[in-house]
Amino acid sequence: MDHAFDIKELKALKVELTRFMMAYKFALDEMNTKINILKDEFNYIHEYNPIEHVTSRLKSPESIYKKVYRKGYEFSLPSIKENIRDIAGIRITCSFMSDIYKLSNMIAKQKDITVVEYKDYIQNPKPNGYQSLHLILQVPIFMSDREELIYVEVQIRTIAMDFWASLEHKIYYKYNQEVPKQMVAELKEAAVMASQLDKKMERLHNEIAEIKQGDENDDGLFLLQGLRKDLFPLKQLESFLTKNG
Ligand code: GTP
Ligand code: MG
Repeated sequence: MDHAFDIKELKALKVELTRFMMAYKFALDEMNTKINILKDEFNYIHEYNPIEHVTSRLKSPESIYKKVYRKGYEFSLPSIKENIRDIAGIRITCSFMSDIYKLSNMIAKQKDITVVEYKDYIQNPKPNGYQSLHLILQVPIFMSDREELIYVEVQIRTIAMDFWASLEHKIYYKYNQEVPKQMVAELKEAAVMASQLDKKMERLHNEIAEIKQGDENDDGLFLLQGLRKDLFPLKQLESFLTKNG
C-alpha cells in the first residue's frame, strides 16, 4: 500500500529532523555550561563579573528555510548543516570592552573547540556603526552512538553595543529595511557615542581596580572570611574564623 509507505517515510523524516535540531540544542547546552564555568571562575579570581548576561537561541525551521532560500543554498540537511552556521546562536553581553577579548580567548583556547570564523566588528565596525565580536565555533557533542561537530555562532558585545544593536534592529524592521538617511546618520552617531562610553567605562574600571589592589595588601584574615560558602560549607570553618579573626 502506497499510503502506509508514506506514513513510514514521514515518520523517518520526523525522526531525522528532530535529531538534526536536537544536535544544535545539545551544542547550546554544552556552550552554556562552558560559559557559566568561565563566568564563575573569572568572578572568583578577578572579583568582578565579566558577563552581564547570556542569551541563546535556536534558529526556527522557518528562518532556516528563508536563509537557505535567500542565499541560494542547496536544500538538503547536509547542505544546511554546512552552510547555515548560526542555527545555534549565543549572545554574551559583557561589562567592559576588554572582557570581550578575554572571554573570546578563553573560549577559543579550549581543547575541544575550533574557531572557524572570527569577525571583529569592534576594531572594524560595520558602515552603519554596528559593533560586536563574532565567532563561529565548531563544538563536539557526544551522543549514544556517535559524535558530531556542530557550528555555533557566538556574538560578544558590551551593554552599550547591545543597546545600540537592539534599537538599530527595531528601526531596520520598522522601516522595512529602508531607513531614512537622517536616521541612518543619527544611528551612526549614536554608535560612536556608545563606543566613547565604553572607552570611558573601561578607564574608570581600571582606575578602581588599581585602588582596590592597594587596599587588599594589608587585609590578612579578613580575606579568609570571604571564602565562598558553596565551596566551604563547613559551620566549623566559620566558627574557627570568627574565633581567630
Ligand atoms: P548573516 O547572513 O545574517 O549570517 O550575515 P553574515 O554571514 O554576514 O554574518 P555577520 O557576522 O555579519 O552577522 C550575523 C549576525 O550578527 C546577524 O544575524 C545579527 O544578529 C548580527 N548583526 C550583524 N550586523 C548587524 C547590524 O548591522 N545590526 C544589528 N542589529 N545586528 C547585526
Ligand atoms: Mg552569519
